[in-house]
Amino acid sequence: MTTESVTSAGAGRGPAVIGTPAAAGSLYPKEVAARLREDAAAVVARYPEPRSALLPLLHLIQSVDSFVSPRGVAFCAETLGLSRAEVSAVATFYSQYKRKPNGAYTVGVCTNTLCAVMGGDDVFATVSAHLGIGNDETTDDGQVTLERLECNAACDYAPVVMVNWEFFDNATPASAVDLVDRLRAGERVEASRGPVVQDFKAVSRVLAGFEDGLVDDGPSAGEATLVGLRISREHDWHAPAYPEAEHDGESDVAEDGTGRGEVGEEQSSSEHAEPTPHEATTGERPDEPADQAGTEPTSPKSGTEGTKE
Ligand code: FES
Repeated sequence: MTTESVTSAGAGRGPAVIGTPAAAGSLYPKEVAARLREDAAAVVARYPEPRSALLPLLHLIQSVDSFVSPRGVAFCAETLGLSRAEVSAVATFYSQYKRKPNGAYTVGVCTNTLCAVMGGDDVFATVSAHLGIGNDETTDDGQVTLERLECNAACDYAPVVMVNWEFFDNATPASAVDLVDRLRAGERVEASRGPVVQDFKAVSRVLAGFEDGLVDDGPSAGEATLVGLRISREHDWHAPAYPEAEHDGESDVAEDGTGRGEVGEEQSSSEHAEPTPHEATTGERPDEPADQAGTEPTSPKSGTEGTKE
């Protein structure tokens, strides 16, 4: 690799540095810059406006630098036609964007309400003491960054620990200590619901929109998530029908009382879409044969027109 002076990626874990103007010598090595430009072009091409690509580009920067570095801010600003202040304003708003070099594994302990009362505070305190670091700090070997997390919508597995956004359910102080020890030892670690844990830079590249092929690896929904669905099926329970609509004096409840569709039943967007002026005039719908246009639909899935008295 051609080497130029790189001041950001190898910087020590000091105070926040986001927004610091890129100084001379803070450019990326040529090979890295070339790949960044190529990847950035692919990301920007997904959006009608270049500036809309800022969030994934910030993840892309983290896939190289492990944080939103000054040179990364400059790269995003230059690529998207923004000021560095604008880039920094966005990067500092979201906690997923790091202001200093991150460890290979972000270990997040949920200490939000439910996880806290189920033991999350104990898990955090134990891991913090074991690693000798506090919130948003990184071990000296650069392997683990410890964080307190807000609710991860995984309360049915409280208390929850996440490693680079993969779940570790029903954590205990002992299991969390074992987890961080295995991560620091470079062991293969499988998530409770998800794939084998990847390092922070690899996951950041996925968040930038470049798939790693692991999306279907590992378990997905767990028993605690599915138990309600299973019980409702055993008892043939259904969601109640929609209440009567007040508009036009028409009912949203089908004659069989089931509403416009069972909960979870797939309905096409065209069934929900407002008619275009042409459709309103002719009565035609996109997937409807011309000889049926204007006739009364008979399926309960067909919306209010199928429920007229
Ligand atoms: S409170 Fe921890 S996942 Fe919801």
